[in-house]
Amino acid sequence: MGLESFLEQFQRGKKLVVLTAYDVQMAGLLELSGVVDAILVGDSLGMVFQGKNSTREVTVEQMAYHTAAVRRGAAKSFIITDMPFGSDLDPTEALANAQVLLEAGADAVKIEGRKLSVIRTLVGQQIPVMGHLGLLPQTAESFTVQGKNPQEAQNMRQDALALQEAGAFSMVLECIPTPLGTAISHSVDIPTIGIGAGPDTSGQVLVINDLLGLGQGKYARFVRQYTNLGQTIMDLVQNWAQDIARQDYPSPSEQYN
Ligand code: KIV
Repeated sequence: MGLESFLEQFQRGKKLVVLTAYDVQMAGLLELSGVVDAILVGDSLGMVFQGKNSTREVTVEQMAYHTAAVRRGAAKSFIITDMPFGSDLDPTEALANAQVLLEAGADAVKIEGRKLSVIRTLVGQQIPVMGHLGLLPQTAESFTVQGKNPQEAQNMRQDALALQEAGAFSMVLECIPTPLGTAISHSVDIPTIGIGAGPDTSGQVLVINDLLGLGQGKYARFVRQYTNLGQTIMDLVQNWAQDIARQDYPSPSEQYN
């Protein structure tokens, strides 16, 4: 599984499935599931893994560390790693930073916003680049739906075409009205991967922690929760604590003689 098979699935009309992972075990499970077309090592790890208020403090070294862990768990998967805030502003620096992420195990990098000369430089060096439009967490002032007014929507449609023209192999569309997600998806020839962009994008991406219900806050509207793993984890911890309290743990079969 790599870029070729990602694009092949798109050409066949399969809805692409992308999920984030930040560690070896989750990456291994996503690969074993057999249904994930790409694993995204998202800089969302700054929030869901490191507990920061934004993704802005995440460094290239941290992204490389998590990418290496994900690669150890998912040797065959197509892995895309986010270029963190500030690492992709200048083409020469972006190239050096992208190379660090590729050496750590990424197959491709993702870049937020309209950074056309950076995308051109990386693609020119055979580094596959995924774009990202709509809500851009690295620079967003508020986490609200983007592209609601006609001028913003028009600008985003032009940005999408410009990313394609610069050589991006795909793009994430985050938190935009469904008609805009549909219009952009129909106007470009590369796969669009939506997160809160409606049903007509070429595929969908979610942060794995949200899908699993690991968070304690309010989830965005587009997060469908199949389980509340957070509650399950708390229940299991309480069960174990009870077993310890009533001296039921460790049992004879859980001890060394
Ligand atoms: O950082 C991330 O996880 C992302 C996804 C939400 C698309 O960019």
